Amino acid sequence: MSEHTRHRLAVIGGGVMGTNIAALALGHGVPVVLVELDADRVESARMTIRQKLKHAQLMAVLPEGQERGALVTTTSVKDAADATTVIEAVTELPETKAKVLAEVSGLVRPGALLISNTSCIPIDELATSVARGEELVGVHFMNPAYLITMVEVIRGTGTSEATMEKATALLTALGREALVIDDAPGFVINRLLHPLINRAAGLVQEGVASAEVVDGLLQGCLGHTTGPLATADLIGIDNLVDSLRVLHERTGDPECAPCDLMLEKVREGHLGRKTGQGFYDYRKVDQ
Ligand SMILES: NC(=O)c1ccc[n+]([C@@H]2O[C@H](COP(=O)([O-])OP(=O)(O)OC[C@H]3O[C@@H](n4cnc5c(N)ncnc54)[C@H](O)[C@@H]3O)[C@@H](O)[C@H]2O)c1
Repeated sequence: MSEHTRHRLAVIGGGVMGTNIAALALGHGVPVVLVELDADRVESARMTIRQKLKHAQLMAVLPEGQERGALVTTTSVKDAADATTVIEAVTELPETKAKVLAEVSGLVRPGALLISNTSCIPIDELATSVARGEELVGVHFMNPAYLITMVEVIRGTGTSEATMEKATALLTALGREALVIDDAPGFVINRLLHPLINRAAGLVQEGVASAEVVDGLLQGCLGHTTGPLATADLIGIDNLVDSLRVLHERTGDPECAPCDLMLEKVREGHLGRKTGQGFYDYRKVDQ
């Protein structure tokens, strides 16, 4: 059995990150069962994964000559029962994640690796919902997961050594490099990134500068590859608002209370790239 085929991955959630992670795994020869609650999204998830694999191939970021893993899509979490690893990538709402993790951890065999791709919810908090808390670890895959090789790995206080070893083996098979940190709301990256995006949106809201100018300054003067508001559109503004609320509730940091402009964009359904409009308009580009 090859290094890749000994892994059988179940990805729960077929949105921005579920499709990203699935494409990364398939491109590295790992078979994936993708579980998406919303039946309408299952077909679009398949299409998105195909596009991402094409993009990854174009960017030459997949191992050469590697046969792709097989993809199964489903609306039933029961189809995840045979997985050696489950990666939870559902909406950033603590109660939704708790329910999904409780259900799937009761279905898989003891010893299966459980990963949460949460942006901000502490792993110790999520561990209280799973059947065997020591089998849960946080892996914060970046977006796009197949392009950014580094991941933030979050070791909960109860995460076992065996779980850490399994996570390392999977990430090695996926060609990812990990930096391991201890548990905290938002971990390292989003404790820094999310308040920055919120402040950048706040500057636009106050009329200090346009999104183009805010992003242009951070790119041109500070060397950021992508400005914070273009990053917000890539992430999804609905996900950012949910994540900021998680951070605000757990840290009390007023910088984490989502600003009015972001709340307004969510109300209007302008969620970023995934809906064609956010801080920028992507509809003309896509035509
Ligand atoms: N968007 C990013 O750039 C990014 C980056 C890193 C981590 N994350 C984290 O990844 C997770 C997913 O975020 P996203 O941006 O993909 O969100 P998304 O809204 O694009 O997708 C979430 C998907 O989960 C599905 N879902 C909800 N409940 C479900 C259930 N019970 N079973 C199966 N599917 C269910 C929804 O229908 C939706 O399609 C979140 O925790 C988020 O914070 C996001």
